[in-house]
Amino acid sequence: MRQALRELHERHAGDRGGAPADYIPELAKGDPDRFGLAIATAGGELFQAGDALAEFTIQSVSKAFAFCIAIEVIGRAAVLGRVGVEPSGDAFNAIVFDPRTNRPFNPMVNAGAITIAGLLHERFGDAAFPLLLDRMSQAAGQRLAVDEAVYRSELETGHRNRAIGHLLRNCGAITGPVDAILDIYFRQCAILVSAIDLAWMGATLAHIGEHPGTGRQVFDLGAVRDTLAVMFTCGMYDYSGGWAFNVGIPAKSGVGGGIVGVVNRQLGIGTFSPRLDAQGNSVRGIRVFEDLASDFGLHAFECLNQGSVFVTSLLR
Ligand code: DON
Repeated sequence: MRQALRELHERHAGDRGGAPADYIPELAKGDPDRFGLAIATAGGELFQAGDALAEFTIQSVSKAFAFCIAIEVIGRAAVLGRVGVEPSGDAFNAIVFDPRTNRPFNPMVNAGAITIAGLLHERFGDAAFPLLLDRMSQAAGQRLAVDEAVYRSELETGHRNRAIGHLLRNCGAITGPVDAILDIYFRQCAILVSAIDLAWMGATLAHIGEHPGTGRQVFDLGAVRDTLAVMFTCGMYDYSGGWAFNVGIPAKSGVGGGIVGVVNRQLGIGTFSPRLDAQGNSVRGIRVFEDLASDFGLHAFECLNQGSVFVTSLLR
């Protein structure tokens, strides 16, 4: 695995396709050529290559974890009453709601994630963000911090998200003060992680909510299942269908250049490369996942992938 990661890093290091996000001014400042890979196993092993320790902001990858936490602490029915689980087929920042429900399509697009922040604010007020940071830190196996410059940069320039917040307030998907809810959302997007952090966070989901290194139960079992299902169908925005077809690994991307992938019961995969394609997904990240899935048979429906061995072990 160590050698495979090194080879993958070498194979794709020269790819300069795509460009870092610059609509959040502070994001454009990092070195666009950083490239880190990490895999953590459900057995607690870690493999890495390249800039696996380089830090970047988690951005939309946080949406998967915020959803997981909300399902547990708010309750499934209450969450699903405010946000759907249908792929939108639209860009992550689209100002469009599901016409049948007048609610955001799913919690992986901005409108849905702001709704999740709204639900957490309703229940926990100012304690909502510390709760998110705490749980995500437990999933990473170390204390995570916020990049204050990126947070402020988005706070000052995120007018589109602000518009989405007010529309959500207007249609009742959120009920609290829009500014306080956006503050939670902008902060959660500015949490600093490395490819290694993402690999452990993915491995915690893969290991049905228990961090394989610390042994701590971080997420509720049922919430993990719901989260992986939404990651599988909606995690890569308007490339989600192509991703499920070509890669077949529940995943979530962010405009900071990170992607987290989860091979159920087996692996957490974290990649970092800031150059993005038109959909806002990391170009080299996609290539690495495609190669990993085909080289190791990781697609969820690949005949070599055993996935959950629980039922077959019972039948033995
Ligand atoms: O709300 C935004 O635009 C960013 N904070 C997060 C967007 C994002 O990461 C979309 N990812 N591909």
